[in-house]
Amino acid sequence: MDASAPDCVLAIDQGTSGTKCLLVDGAGRIVARGHAPLSEQHPQPGWVNQNPEELWQSVQAAVRACLQGQEPSRVRAVGLSTQRESYLLWDRRGGQAISPLISWQDQRAPLSEELRRPETGQLVRSRSGLPLDPMFSASKAAWLLDTYDPERERSGRGEWCLGTVDSWLLFRMTGEHLTELGNASRTQLLNVHTAEWDPELLRLFRVPRAALPELRPSNGPFPALRGLAPLPDGTPIRAVLGDSHAALFAHGAFSPGAVKATYGTGSSVMGLLHDAQQLDPGLCLTVAWSMGDQVQLAAEGNVRSTGAGLKWVAELLGLSPAELAALARTVGHSPVTLVPGFGGLGAPWWDEGAVGLISNLTLGSTRADLAFAAVDSIAQQVSDVVEAVNRSVGQIQVLYTDGGATANPDLMQRQADLIDTAVLRSENAELSALGAAHLAGLGAGLWDAQALRDLPRERQTFRPQITAAERLRLRRVWREAVDRARTPQP
Ligand code: G3P
Repeated sequence: MDASAPDCVLAIDQGTSGTKCLLVDGAGRIVARGHAPLSEQHPQPGWVNQNPEELWQSVQAAVRACLQGQEPSRVRAVGLSTQRESYLLWDRRGGQAISPLISWQDQRAPLSEELRRPETGQLVRSRSGLPLDPMFSASKAAWLLDTYDPERERSGRGEWCLGTVDSWLLFRMTGEHLTELGNASRTQLLNVHTAEWDPELLRLFRVPRAALPELRPSNGPFPALRGLAPLPDGTPIRAVLGDSHAALFAHGAFSPGAVKATYGTGSSVMGLLHDAQQLDPGLCLTVAWSMGDQVQLAAEGNVRSTGAGLKWVAELLGLSPAELAALARTVGHSPVTLVPGFGGLGAPWWDEGAVGLISNLTLGSTRADLAFAAVDSIAQQVSDVVEAVNRSVGQIQVLYTDGGATANPDLMQRQADLIDTAVLRSENAELSALGAAHLAGLGAGLWDAQALRDLPRERQTFRPQITAAERLRLRRVWREAVDRARTPQP
């Protein structure tokens, strides 16, 4: 066989802390990797910026690193997965960024008086599937336009473009202003039921339609790629997915009822739905992906601080995350409870006014108790969201897990114990990139739907080991602490 025949897909995963790149062969095996870091700026409390040029350079560097020593003509197609919700403004003609990228973590955008009315919140939720929260792009769009184009002149004429990271990268890679439906569904400007930009949402956030990208299914069609050396110009782009959605795809979770948790700075619990059913109010309705005119909906709950809480305690104790995990293991259980409500709590509480809290301290409490509480807070918060999923779709059968913190087997065991459900941990640390590779390979004909299901997926299973009474007790102690951390409820 010709060694340079296009027998691979190249996946790019653009995330908050950097860009990862994988070269994946026709058997679904990773044959090369590349990585480039990306910095964050914090110009004011609650503000989180990233530099759009640095972000694009990190993509270029990761692709170069991945293809070093490889024949670029082996790449049959490219797949892209991206961080979501982060938003920026750029000039359509020159392609230069006008604003920084306002990160999904950013909390600067105030809600207008109109948006703060309960009936407006309900309208936004019923159309977009999302609760009003500064994490979603719409309030960032309003802030960007108020700051850079208050009269909506240039954006209204379509001279300036608004978009998420997938959109920015597609613009750089193809010259066209496009976005993928799953990413678009996280902007809070898309009507999740019609899969179109929603005129009422655009009016509420004062966003001109002319500044927004054209919508595309996750499997395209997208224009061919250009200007991403050493990839040949004309290489097809066969997949674009939000990173969390791509991880679900990589788990092989293609049918309604499948649920996964990704553990990062925050955590995302996502499960596929049969239709746009009534969800627990703690969950969002989101487009997982779309293939042609088929739109697959999902329920998602985003916990704001999971890895972030661990990092905070580790720094407080002067430990690395691995040392913290080892210290937590020395106690195995503790009454001390950490609710990492730094800057409020996300799913399923969506409580802006909630505070960070450590409870049940005694004079006998030790550093190990605090370490244990930090690890436990991750499993407890994910359990809160899984319970909301159970209330919405019925008891889930397994929870697929991925992300950095899953390397800690104690956390995975605790997760299985608290949700009383088997946890299937992926042994792959680059699941979002792999999901983009899997979808791109499907589009490029490297595998068909059956072979996609059979691609190698290494997993380890953790089964629940505690009694129902013990589970109830642990969950009750946690809920009492959450109630103390939250704004008083009527
Ligand atoms: O919703 C935000 C999420 O997509 C960011 O993911 O991997 O960049 O932290 P990550």
